[in-house]
Order: sequence, then C-alpha cells, then structure tokens
Amino acid sequence: MPQAAIRYHDPLLQLEAEANKTIIERILLLKEQKDVLILGHNYMHPLIYNLSPPEARGDSLALSKYAAETDKPIILFDGVVFMAETAKILNPTKKVLIASKKAGCSLADPLRGEQVRALKKQFPGLPVVTYINSYADVKAESDICCTSANALKVILSTKAKRVIFLPDSLMGENLQVELKKMGSDVELIYPGKKNKLPAGKCEVHDKFTVDDIRRVREQYDIPKGHPHRAVLVHWECTPEVVQEADFCGSTSQMANYIKEKKPERIFLATECEMAANLQNEFPQTEFIRQCNVYCQHMRQITLKGILSALETEDKELHEVIVPESVRKKALVPIQKMLEIIG
Ligand code: 13P
Ligand code: SF4
Repeated sequence: MPQAAIRYHDPLLQLEAEANKTIIERILLLKEQKDVLILGHNYMHPLIYNLSPPEARGDSLALSKYAAETDKPIILFDGVVFMAETAKILNPTKKVLIASKKAGCSLADPLRGEQVRALKKQFPGLPVVTYINSYADVKAESDICCTSANALKVILSTKAKRVIFLPDSLMGENLQVELKKMGSDVELIYPGKKNKLPAGKCEVHDKFTVDDIRRVREQYDIPKGHPHRAVLVHWECTPEVVQEADFCGSTSQMANYIKEKKPERIFLATECEMAANLQNEFPQTEFIRQCNVYCQHMRQITLKGILSALETEDKELHEVIVPESVRKKALVPIQKMLEIIG
C-alpha cells in the first residue's frame, strides 16, 4: 500500500503521519531513485515501520533472511546496529546504511570477542551458541548463532550435553527451564553462571515484573488461560514473568499468535511500538500498552536520520562496516543457523 494511502487506527498517529507527510515522501522518493531495500524491525515507530514493504518487516530472523537474499544495491536497516551488521555479514557487496550508529543494545554492548575467547578457555570444547543480539567480533568467536525464534532448536542441534549460551542470561535461564520441561539434560552456561561475566539482560524486557503482569490481568480482566484474551511475553523477560504468561516467543511469533487466534484483548510484555504496529494490522484486537517500557536504542532511528542516511550515504555517520577478516568468521555461525532452520 503506498504510504499516503495508509490510514492509522489511532487518530493521534494519523495526525502524526499527516504532520510528517513531506519527510516521508522525500524518503520514499530516494528509496525508489536509489533502489533501496528498507528493512523494518517490529519495534520501529509505525511511521518508520511502514516505510518497509510488508515482506521486509519482521523479527531479527526474518530480517536477516531478507538481507541475505536481496539483489538491491543498498540496504537501509531500520533496527539497531547489531542487526545492520548481520545484514552486512550476509550480503557484503551491498551498501548497508543505518539512521544512527548510536542504536546499541544492552545485550550486545557489554560483550566483546576477547571475553568469549576467555570463556572458551575456561570451558574448553563446549560449543558456543550466540544470540543474534551480539556484535560481529562475538559472532566470529561462536560456533552457531540463534535468534529468539529458534534458540531451542539450535541448542539441541549441537548434540552437546553442555553448551555456552551468550549473551542473554535471562533467555539462558528461560531456555534451561524449557529444556528441563522437554526432558533434556543439556546444561546451559550463560553469563554469570559458573563464570565471572556480568549477567546479560535486555534493559527493556527486564523491566516487566510478575506484579505488573498480575496487575494487568486484574485491571483488564485477562485471566490466565482465557480463550480470547492473553498475555504474551518475549524470551528476554525474567523466568518468573515467562512462567506467568500465556505465550512466550520472538516478536514475530507473538504477531503470528494474534494473526492465528484473533484474540479480543492482548497485553504484550515487550517494546511498546510493537503493539502500535499490530493495532494497525489487527483493529479487532484491543492492545493494552505499557509505553513507559521502550527501547532507547531502537528510538535512535528517526525519520530525520533515515533521510540523512539516504541523502548522504555518509561513511562515518550511516554506513555499516565490518572488517573483512571478522566478517568471514562471523558468517560461519550465521550460515550454520540458517542451514538448520531452512
Ligand atoms: P526478535 O528477534 O524477537 O525480533 O527480538 C529482537 C530484540 O531485540 C528483542 O528485544
Ligand atoms: Fe536490545 Fe532489548 Fe532494545 Fe532489543 S529491546 S534492542 S534486546 S535493548
């Protein structure tokens, strides 16, 4: 649908779209003129999310696949830097641009390759499974990557009894619980478990507490197990919050839940823009939003930054570069993941 034709369910959002009409049109014109693929993560503000065609929106896994397959000369990544780096690793002949290189991630930022090398020395021979929320030098030290959509499958594919899982300690704890439930005796070693690395946490998902979930259930009448109302959470939430939810998944798995079950009321324990995007797609569902929980890194991506990236293609400000020696090593674990999930 052409951007001008998009009508937003939320009247305030519609006003915002009208106020930003000129900059959006300039971006879309440059996109056509320069033949750019604009990828949009589910956490983008709706005006930015809708710059991408529907097939180029999604979670980290879907966006990595689009990036790998495109034949367009330029990829503009509306997401955070580690995601844009993954696109560059997978498709190095393309120019990869991002609106702001300040778009970090509390999971990716604290961990670098040298810490992974030290951990491998502490646990020799253990396979290293690394969540896609990590930088290229960390991936380069890893055996296989995973995303929140396929972590269990990837861990089990290693056939090992002990696996190093980086960098998300909360997801590590959640996956450990799931493995136990499945009857598996695989032990996960994640930051802070039998090692001195500080625990890795998503600063956004870590904010949700069990009390928040219970309060939402009570205030909005969403009892656990209700056939048409549900609380959906991300794997990056604490284990207590995950156990309190009706469903846990990646951002796209949450979106698919809504597509398939068409619930009447939903609370999403994740970045609040995700619900704004889904509300537009599924107007029949009432989304309860907790908008004091947002990702400051994702919000570095603005319309102004996107326009600047497309206009200038500035190397310092906007072009994502991965040194070739690191890229080649980081490609191996990403490709292994893609082979496993098909
Ligand atoms: P998804 O892969 O589920 O989109 O998650 C990315 C992310 O950053 C979640 O916080
Ligand atoms: Fe990183 Fe959390 Fe932001 Fe996702 S929501 S980019 S994991 S800080």
